[in-house]
Amino acid sequence: MEKKIKGSAQVVVGGQWGDEGKGRVVDVLAESKDMIVRFQGGNNAGHSLHIDESSIVLHLIPCGIMRENKVCFIGNGVVIDPEVLFAEILLLKSYGIEVSPKNLRISRNAHIILPMHKEIDAWQESSLGRTIGTTKRGIGPCYEDKIARMGILAQELVSLKILKEKIALIAGRRGLQKFELSAENLANQWSRYGDQLKPFLCDVGEAIHEGLTAGKTALFEGAQGTLLDVDHGSYPYVTSSNCVASHAATGSGIGPTMIDDVVLVTKAYCTRVGEGPFFSEMADEEALKFRTRGNEFGATTGRSRRCGWLDLPALAYASRLNGASSVAVTKIDVLAGMGTIQVCTGYRSRNGTVGSFSDAMELTQNGETITPIYQELGEAEPITNSPTQFADFSTTYRKLFEAIEQRSQAPITMVTYGPKRGDEIAFGGGRK
Ligand code: IMP
Ligand code: MG
Repeated sequence: MEKKIKGSAQVVVGGQWGDEGKGRVVDVLAESKDMIVRFQGGNNAGHSLHIDESSIVLHLIPCGIMRENKVCFIGNGVVIDPEVLFAEILLLKSYGIEVSPKNLRISRNAHIILPMHKEIDAWQESSLGRTIGTTKRGIGPCYEDKIARMGILAQELVSLKILKEKIALIAGRRGLQKFELSAENLANQWSRYGDQLKPFLCDVGEAIHEGLTAGKTALFEGAQGTLLDVDHGSYPYVTSSNCVASHAATGSGIGPTMIDDVVLVTKAYCTRVGEGPFFSEMADEEALKFRTRGNEFGATTGRSRRCGWLDLPALAYASRLNGASSVAVTKIDVLAGMGTIQVCTGYRSRNGTVGSFSDAMELTQNGETITPIYQELGEAEPITNSPTQFADFSTTYRKLFEAIEQRSQAPITMVTYGPKRGDEIAFGGGRK
């Protein structure tokens, strides 16, 4: 029988705690793709793009929207704050980028973030005696309602009656009298978003499948990162969705056999926003240097990102979980002038060396202290040439690339050395 699917699908995911520069990588890879898909998370994400003289941060709409003749999709696995969605559409319009149902399709089954989800998020962060360091965008509480089978689907936003009932149900079950009493008002207000949303809604899985069948190419744009995955991250210091590549299928409505390859994005060092273990975290003074040079401030919340050295066992863990077929290394230019560059090659606990990232995580869960083992790579020189191959990079960078390939067991297919389009090398079929 002839192969039915003529197109191909590529997934881009973060190998760390988010902010690996996925937006930058997606922007490059999207050029040759027809369909760009978000499949999890919501506007907790912040994908920064620097194009020509402009900088733009997208939180919800796939970065592919910045290129012409692409169709962008927001899958069922995403949670949508309609206020943010329509504000983002307006922002894009102000940059001359048209957004319409022609280039943006949204899943009927995506869940809707309500104002009360944001309030609950903020309240949970401040009143439960345990802080995760969330973005307070209502992401967690919206997913809670989804799993509790009382969430509001995008397709339900168009029905005033359902909306009223659902808001009252959520508020009632959560004991939020204030919202229960104002259910009618809120429903009236929000059903207007439903009218605006309606033309964008479709069965996203079916549309992508049709495209792939017809020979079109798809790019799945991950948000957050593997170490924030609700199942595989440093629970409870995680986000509320699955960020790993396999979720590109569940979160968009295609089958796993449709996915052809997975690009794992890693920064040349590590950052983390919010609470939770970070074995290779730097001392304040060193972190400050990286934060300043790498502009390591949250694209969504503006918070200072914690900085650390590249954690190779964590990279190996992320590569395995995602089934990475290749790796993109970002922000290597930040390393120049930072003194001796180090990478974390393993860990120690009071009982000796620790074999893997997952063992180290288990030990920290049980209150043990984990200390990193570092290898020094040497100093990184500024990148002043326009490198076209690995040999064009000086020794420290080449050592870094070798360590990344060795630990991830995947070839590096892209290196970015500046925030602007063009400051990157893409190796089509992997490094030769
Ligand atoms: P939430 O996703 O807002 O619930 O936040 C949970 C954790 O994930 C917090 O530590 C956040 O800082 C982190 N987080 C969520 N989205 C991102 C992101 O896009 N980049 C980096 N960290 C994120
Ligand atoms: Mg980000």
